[in-house]
Amino acid sequence: MSAVLLEWYDANARSMPWRVPPREKMAGVRPDPYRVWMSEVMLQQTTVAAVTEYFNRFTARWPRVDDLAAAEDADVMAQWAGLGYYARARNLLKCAREVVADHGGVFPQDRDGLLSLPGIGPYTAAAIAAISYDEPAVVVDGNVERVMARLFDIHTPLPAAKPELTERAAALTPQKRPGDHAQAVMDLGATVCTPRNPACGICPLRSPCVARTRGTAADLPKKTPKKAKPIRQGIAYVVRRVDGAWLLETRPPKGLLGGMLGWPGSDWGDAPAPAPPIEAAWRDAGAEARHTFTHFHLRLKVMVAVVPMEAQSPTGDWHARVTPSDLPTVMRKVYDIAAAHLDGATQRDI
Ligand code: ADE
Repeated sequence: MSAVLLEWYDANARSMPWRVPPREKMAGVRPDPYRVWMSEVMLQQTTVAAVTEYFNRFTARWPRVDDLAAAEDADVMAQWAGLGYYARARNLLKCAREVVADHGGVFPQDRDGLLSLPGIGPYTAAAIAAISYDEPAVVVDGNVERVMARLFDIHTPLPAAKPELTERAAALTPQKRPGDHAQAVMDLGATVCTPRNPACGICPLRSPCVARTRGTAADLPKKTPKKAKPIRQGIAYVVRRVDGAWLLETRPPKGLLGGMLGWPGSDWGDAPAPAPPIEAAWRDAGAEARHTFTHFHLRLKVMVAVVPMEAQSPTGDWHARVTPSDLPTVMRKVYDIAAAHLDGATQRDI
């Protein structure tokens, strides 16, 4: 089955900036483990479409692992803003520094060595080992799970089905070209064996696929229903100084949005709102910022104030050059609401 899949991949591999296409690989070009690592960390929980622009910006600014290891934390966090799951960015930097400090700037060349690095779990270690070094490591992401569930018509719901699906994926992994095989299954899942309306008619695995024969493909994989997410509330205080600088805090390094810039405000939960970070004529911006995290929905009331140059705040720092793209998405949503209110107010005041 793997031979058919590799033939399909040779003709249909998606082009990605971190990939070496099959033809070039045949000519002896090897993928750069630094680029493969960065792409795989970015792709955790995120789509190829969302990652590409970030990947290009990161690798243009920090082309090698030692460049990234020498970067300022705040620059890396600002470049990551908008990608989400910010622990990944903190670990990216930690990992780059460890590769430089403990491995002479060279990534370990097998799955176990890779697993010892910060932010590299079983999936990422297997993906880097297979793609960069052609180690026949078993690579299982959501796409691979779906392809396996359909190919073998497995009805056990996820996540309970994971071990069985991993076993199937392992049995299919070839000794030759395991990296291309892994990427072929992922590409097949992303472009042909899609969650809805799978294109079974053009699938290279249509004849061995048991779910296609039985007509169950579109119903697989089965999933155990997830618990509904609770709604949490909070307040964000947006302060603009008359010269245009904004009052922002760097969030504590651990926890949600750790290390990112954010507006001062309340905790997100049932705790009573704290006093505003500065004395001012506060106004309600009149709209709520809504954002969904992994485990909850958040609704933030947005309060805004404009303050004179001499205003002092015990929390936060003034940022003159910050742009919305330096902020995580929820903070960007708050910014959009506050800026619209302030612009409206300015026009009304004139
Ligand atoms: N998703 C995660 N890694 C990938 C890769 N190397 N190719 C395609 N999709 C992916």
